[in-house]
Amino acid sequence: MANSAERTWVFNVNGAAVTVTAAEDLSLLLALRQDLDLKGARVGCAQGNCGACTVLLDGQPIQSCTTPLYTVANRNVVTIEGLTRNGAPGALQRNFLDEQAAQCGYCINGIIMTVTGLLGRTPPANRREIVETLDERHLCRCGAQGRILRAIDRAIAGTPGTAS
Ligand code: FES
Ligand code: FES
Repeated sequence: MANSAERTWVFNVNGAAVTVTAAEDLSLLLALRQDLDLKGARVGCAQGNCGACTVLLDGQPIQSCTTPLYTVANRNVVTIEGLTRNGAPGALQRNFLDEQAAQCGYCINGIIMTVTGLLGRTPPANRREIVETLDERHLCRCGAQGRILRAIDRAIAGTPGTAS
């Protein structure tokens, strides 16, 4: 039963309605990971600086660690788990796999979500916008940026990924 400091929030995650009972200032990141068992959004800095926790909110990339749960009520969240198709990686994920873009991989899910949001816009973001956004919002401490950009170039070119 909810205690007096908690409320119940209804929102959509990866196309399905979910209900979470929690303090309203709980971050979306912790609600996803702890209450909904979706671990794809990573806990990095937890301060809005590294981008590891990025998900889409109504199609826009946001940092879920600094997004209070109450702000997502009745809205649509997509996590990296929502990009898979029939249990297989989605197109952009396959581009990243084909380029072996992950070193430790900690940053990659967030980067894929940001690129998904930018390429999903109308019109899609161009390469310069994508690079600038990644530079502003994401850290890759492994120095895998070269391979990450090659994977993004495949996506911009519409190259179908082959990895499964
Ligand atoms: S964990 Fe959210 S920006 Fe670093
Ligand atoms: S691949 Fe390790 S932080 Fe980017």
